[in-house]
Parts: sequence; structure tokens; C-alpha cells
Amino acid sequence: MTEKSLEKSVYEKLCGVVDPDDASVDARELVRFADGDEAKLSDAVGRRLSGEPLQYIIGEWDFYNCTFRVGEGVFIPRPETELLVDETLEFLKGRSDGEKTVLDLCSGSGCIAISIAKNCPEAKVLAVEKSPAAFEFLKQNIILNQVKVSAFNDDILDGCGHLTKGRFDVIVSNPPYVRKNELETLQTEVLREPVEALDGGEDGLVFYHAIADRWLPLVRPGGLLIVECGEDQAEDVKSIFSAASDGAVYTLDDFAGIHRAVAIKS
Ligand SMILES: C[S@@+](CC[C@H](N)C(=O)[O-])C[C@H]1O[C@@H](n2cnc3c(N)ncnc32)[C@H](O)[C@@H]1O
Repeated sequence: MTEKSLEKSVYEKLCGVVDPDDASVDARELVRFADGDEAKLSDAVGRRLSGEPLQYIIGEWDFYNCTFRVGEGVFIPRPETELLVDETLEFLKGRSDGEKTVLDLCSGSGCIAISIAKNCPEAKVLAVEKSPAAFEFLKQNIILNQVKVSAFNDDILDGCGHLTKGRFDVIVSNPPYVRKNELETLQTEVLREPVEALDGGEDGLVFYHAIADRWLPLVRPGGLLIVECGEDQAEDVKSIFSAASDGAVYTLDDFAGIHRAVAIKS
């Protein structure tokens, strides 16, 4: 069978179970992953049909201009999160010379911290992640991408004593932000990702309050704090930040024109 006809047959198996918009990409990626090994392909298709995310099956995913190892226990990098990296890199470009310190809270696979370090090698980048499983991926991804990122396995809500004594030019975060009562309505694939990566408490805003209280005061004057938020959370997050600081608060839109990030320049 040619690669194209193999893809077509996998596509047909996936359709009806996987969203048709995703099925053709999934079919192509799975055929590429199996690399001519029929047993490997059949196992991979079975896993996909059981609801396992494509990214976990192939074990890696691209984000920004880097590749990240992913698998059970770590949140899969999403394209909308690239907004945070773009804005941070643009901000760092405009900063005068001297050391530029960037802190990524809730780092997961490390996609934000590592992409920033790769594209702004002069920045000193630190990353904090609580989950031991995700932290293992973070460490692997730092090595894989050959960047210098200091990684800490700690809790941003009530740990990180040493880091809270520091000062940062940029603090960036894509924290958990799904409301507790919405967790069970998520797509099957998303439910295979760790719940601690998604659960933002009753109102989905627990992490934004903690970031405003504990972390925003650590941003140097003239520095930037930027967070991703859920589709309908930008106004709430803006209010939380405005109440905590006199800095200028603004939103950033994703490709669909939805407010997906809130930033504050102190
Ligand atoms: C939405 S994921 C984002 C991961 C990554 N930054 C990204 O954009 O793909 C949120 C991450 O926060 C981590 N996390 C949850 N609670 C935490 C806490 N209290 N302290 C530090 N990290 C936490 C989760 O384990 C998860 O990796």
C-alpha cells in the first residue's frame, strides 16, 4: 500500500470517532509515526480510537519553533499559547541591555519557558511546575532543546519561598483555568490530560488571584506580567490585575479574535 492509501484507510477508521477536521491530520501523523511498521500503526490507531490524544501516542509535539516530548501526565502545548511567547519576546527586544529575567509559572512541558530561552538566549529563564510527572517532561525538554532554563518542582500557590525573594522583568503563565463544574464537559481527549493542569477552582480564577497577590509585586518597574485565560475570562482577569496594581492592563487576541491573554505593564 502506498503512504497515501494507508493514510486514507486510517482516516476512514478514525472518522466517526475522531472529529473529521482532526482525522486527516491524525491519519497523516500516525502513518508517519509508524514508519511502515504495520503492528505499530495498528496499535497507534487503536489507542487513538480509544480517545488517547494524538500527541501522547506520537510522544512529541511542535510549539513555536521547538519540539517537546509529551505523554501521560503533562499538558499538551496549544497553538494559542504562542501568543504569550510572541509578546514576551517582543517586550524583551525593547528592554535595554543587561540581564533580563523571565519566570514561567505553571510550566508543564516547559513550552513557554523553553521557547523564550531558545529565541532570546541572553535572557535568564526560570520555570516552576508542581506536578512531578510534568516536571520530568520539563527537564527532558530543556535537554532536548539545548537551552539553559532553571527548573523548580514547586507550588506557586503556597511554595516557592526562595523565588518570592527575587525580582523579574517578565512573569508569564498559562495556569489551570477551567471552572470545576465544567471539567466533566470537556472533550474525551482533554480529559486524558492531567486534571491538575485544568482545574482552576470553583470560578476558574484561583490562579489569577494568587498570581496578582503573590507574583505581580515581584515584577520590576517597567516589567511585564502576562497570562493566558479562558475564552470568557479576560474581563475578570483584567479586574483582578487592575485591583492589585496601577499598571496598564491590556488584552491580546488569538487567531479567532478572542481575548486569550491579559497583560499588565507595571
Ligand atoms: C494549563 S497547564 C499549562 C502548561 C504549560 N505552561 C503550557 O502552556 O502548555 C497548567 C500547568 O500548571 C501546573 N500546576 C497546577 N497547579 C500548580 C501549582 N499550584 N503550582 C505550580 N504548577 C501548577 C499543572 O501541573 C500544569 O502543568
